[in-house]
Amino acid sequence: MYSKPKKIGSIEIKNRFIRSATFEGMATEDGYVTDKHVTLYEKLAKGGAGLIITGYAYVQKSGQSFENQTGVSSDDFIPGLSKIAETVHENGENCKVALQIAHCGRQSRFLENTISPSAIEEKLTRKIPREMTREEIQGTIDAFAQAIRRAKEAGFDAVQLHGAHGYIITQFLSPYSNKRTDDYGGSLEKRTKFLEEIYLKSVDLVGKDFPIFIKMNGVDFIEGGTTIEESTEVAKRLEQIGYAAIEVSAGIWEVAKLRKKDLGWKPTFLPESRMFIGKMNEPAYNLPYAEAFKKVLDIPVILIGGINSITLVEQILSDESADFISLSRPLIREPDLPNRWMKGIGNDTVDCEYCNGCLSTTASGGLFCAKLQESNPYS
Ligand SMILES: Cc1cc2nc3c(=O)[nH]c(=O)nc-3n(C[C@H](O)[C@H](O)[C@H](O)COP(=O)(O)O)c2cc1C
Repeated sequence: MYSKPKKIGSIEIKNRFIRSATFEGMATEDGYVTDKHVTLYEKLAKGGAGLIITGYAYVQKSGQSFENQTGVSSDDFIPGLSKIAETVHENGENCKVALQIAHCGRQSRFLENTISPSAIEEKLTRKIPREMTREEIQGTIDAFAQAIRRAKEAGFDAVQLHGAHGYIITQFLSPYSNKRTDDYGGSLEKRTKFLEEIYLKSVDLVGKDFPIFIKMNGVDFIEGGTTIEESTEVAKRLEQIGYAAIEVSAGIWEVAKLRKKDLGWKPTFLPESRMFIGKMNEPAYNLPYAEAFKKVLDIPVILIGGINSITLVEQILSDESADFISLSRPLIREPDLPNRWMKGIGNDTVDCEYCNGCLSTTASGGLFCAKLQESNPYS
């Protein structure tokens, strides 16, 4: 089942394994692609995933999340980005590559001054964003569309919008962070308008055949935030608008402040990357949300989060609970995991211990498994 090709929009993905977007921390100070990216994407392409999604690239300087994040906010970035696309195409037989694009909005530790649909304090950083003007919203919509055009020009096969985990798209979608009273806030239709306009503007630039898909939250895990009832309604609208697939995740950063007894699982520094799967937290922890999305959608549903064995992969696919399986941390430890599993080599389980040590490596110029410092597979 996992070796069976399936389409996302107009492109065929050779198997059901996707490398989920994973921030690299490898760009120059100005956001340009470096040789470190090339080495990383060469290993991943050789590892057998059918589709590789890059770490998030910022569409505007006002949306940069971290130092050494890749930029896609001007045409100057196109030559560097094209090296990533070329590397994947040259090293992975029929492997496809998507650029993930994002704007962090209110959720940035890096920026002094943040913007957001509404001026609601971000409880982790204690920063109060400035409410975006309508002109600024138009500027950000345009920046997303231009980023999609640049990705296509750089040779990417598709683009994924980062609409999960509390960044600006989540901020528009979520009633927790969007208190606007104009036509970008209020009803679910109005909160989805931002994504509708991004899609329509982008299609004018890249045509309907270039797949634009999205990662979004099944639930925000915050009181007053998006619920599964709402997110499935949003997903249906996105399908109608033309989005080609949906990767289902959950949580915003502020969840890290909540307690286990309120959530039923232990929140961590990045709530979307739950720790110690199988010991402290459940495997495939976003499965109920993906299943709810599958029930209402015809476009492919991608499941991410704590998928720790090939037996589980087979089960999810044969139950038709999701169409694709996405992996982030396990591929930091073992970039060749899809090939290893497909060839039946070694354990059924992943080697990754879900310790989240990889998160801090991105602050020191790389992305690698903290447990494998000496035998880093990307060096
Ligand atoms: C180091 C690191 C960087 C990440 N960067 C991104 C990112 O750029 N975009 C994104 O959508 N998710 C990002 N994530 C979240 C992962 O894509 C994924 O949703 C999460 O880790 C759960 O999947 P896993 O259990 O397979 O790791 C990151 C996670 C880690 C550990």
